[in-house]
Amino acid sequence: MPADLPLSVWPTAQRNARAQRAGRYVEISGTHPAKMLPAIAARAIATYSAPGDLVVDPMAGIGSTLVEAVHLGRDAIGVEYEPAWAELARANLAHARSQGASGHGEVVCADARHLPSVLDPAAVGLVALVVTSPPYGASLHGRVTARPGAGISKSHNRYSTDPANLAHVGLAGLLDAMATILSGCARVLRPGGFVAMTVRPYWSAGRLVDLPGALARVGERSGLVLYERNVALLAALRDDHLVPRASFFALEQVRKARARGIPRQVVAHEDLLVLRAPPHLASSGAARAVARLPEVAHDPSAPSVP
Ligand SMILES: C[S@@+](CC[C@H](N)C(=O)[O-])C[C@H]1O[C@@H](n2cnc3c(N)ncnc32)[C@H](O)[C@@H]1O
Repeated sequence: MPADLPLSVWPTAQRNARAQRAGRYVEISGTHPAKMLPAIAARAIATYSAPGDLVVDPMAGIGSTLVEAVHLGRDAIGVEYEPAWAELARANLAHARSQGASGHGEVVCADARHLPSVLDPAAVGLVALVVTSPPYGASLHGRVTARPGAGISKSHNRYSTDPANLAHVGLAGLLDAMATILSGCARVLRPGGFVAMTVRPYWSAGRLVDLPGALARVGERSGLVLYERNVALLAALRDDHLVPRASFFALEQVRKARARGIPRQVVAHEDLLVLRAPPHLASSGAARAVARLPEVAHDPSAPSVP
């Protein structure tokens, strides 16, 4: 099989998260509770944009999208609500620059719901790609430490204590905010530009919440077109089997649920939703190429890159 054949299952955890970040991100990046795997950001950027393009992450966290973008010769702008994470993203960009990354990156500390007014007006309508992951669940992640005789303790599992952080606004509040953010993305994207968003279903009060499905619908109501729904693996592919990389905490949650008779599975992937801004109706060659977009969106065997 040719190595460059587009696939809907992305082998993005062939190396574990620590190995992917080692030396490429500043050490204290580990204090953020929910970082995107660098290989997911890098693959999305390589697939849906070209060198010289502008890539944006409206909820930038430690700046994984921005770091991978500037290493791949794209320019990048990140928006992050929490000053501490925005500062960390800036430190990671400075580190990437010191390692020879050729793209230019910057971070604005602001609310992603105001994306079109936060960006330089000159950039509005020129963004090729948004890569992002929404916050959800006040405390789904974190670092677990085991101490002999004292059990386990969890740390670095919150974005902040600010109730306005979108991690703390509940499902309805998050979907509402994402409608505003995705509408903003549709406004800043160039015609035919992409949004690549990682998101997972999660359990709440004994029910599985289909957040990917809900966000796909929100995206479509926000002026975007669902283009692909891919799987970014969080487990390594080795010959014919998967090597799980689930955290101690994730395994513990599944074990406890199973002990209560709930047949939960360990999550081994992120859904990667790809949405697209509609093309202009101009009759240029590029516009004609993206004008076929709705057909492609419903063809699961269609290639990832136009
Ligand atoms: C899942 S994390 C993103 C992680 C990022 N992809 C990375 O790899 O570091 C979501 C981020 O959204 C931020 N956030 C929450 N509410 C926000 C808002 N209204 N505007 C911008 N960022 C927000 C959180 O502080 C958190 O850092």
